[in-house]
Amino acid sequence: MSEHIRVLLSEEEVDARIQQIGDQISKDYEGGQVHLVCVLKGGSFFMCELAKRITVPVSLDFMSVSSYGKDTKSSGVVKIVKDLDESIKGKDVLVVEDIVDSGRTLSYLLEMLRDRGPKSLRLCTLLDKPDRRVVDVHVDYTGFAIPDEFVVGYGLDYDQKYRNLPFIGVVEFE
Ligand code: IMP
Ligand code: MG
Repeated sequence: MSEHIRVLLSEEEVDARIQQIGDQISKDYEGGQVHLVCVLKGGSFFMCELAKRITVPVSLDFMSVSSYGKDTKSSGVVKIVKDLDESIKGKDVLVVEDIVDSGRTLSYLLEMLRDRGPKSLRLCTLLDKPDRRVVDVHVDYTGFAIPDEFVVGYGLDYDQKYRNLPFIGVVEFE
């Protein structure tokens, strides 16, 4: 079975939207600073592009999580594989994710981060699949709402492949 990638959002569209979100974040945090928390690995491409377009002072940290159990994407209990290097206490934290799907991972993650006492905690995602939502998650900044299709590129993978594509594509099997 061979895979084919159909372009859903071109590089130009994605870049233009990231610029808009960067402008909005720069406005919203004006006079302050923002601490970006990237959820590895998927969020890394988006976070780098976004950070370059934010004009208030930015600091960065990374964390990596995985779901417990075999049913990887839907167990809802996440294990911290790599925790943040620095404390987020008193900081204006913006979590940067690649995609919100069921919402289970993020709802758990946000609750955990909130317990650590940030001054504020917001969520920014490049993609959102609202039709797939199982757990309610408040998203502050969304790049694109997309239909329920499996997408790759811009950090998103299929079996660890295609993260490096500079656009968002749908995996099709033929
Ligand atoms: P959920 O919101 O807890 O269901 O899980 C979100 C995670 O599932 C994302 O951070 C991605 O790692 C992965 N994921 C969900 N949908 C897709 C997709 O279409 N392509 C690639 N990864 C996806
Ligand atoms: Mg992710």
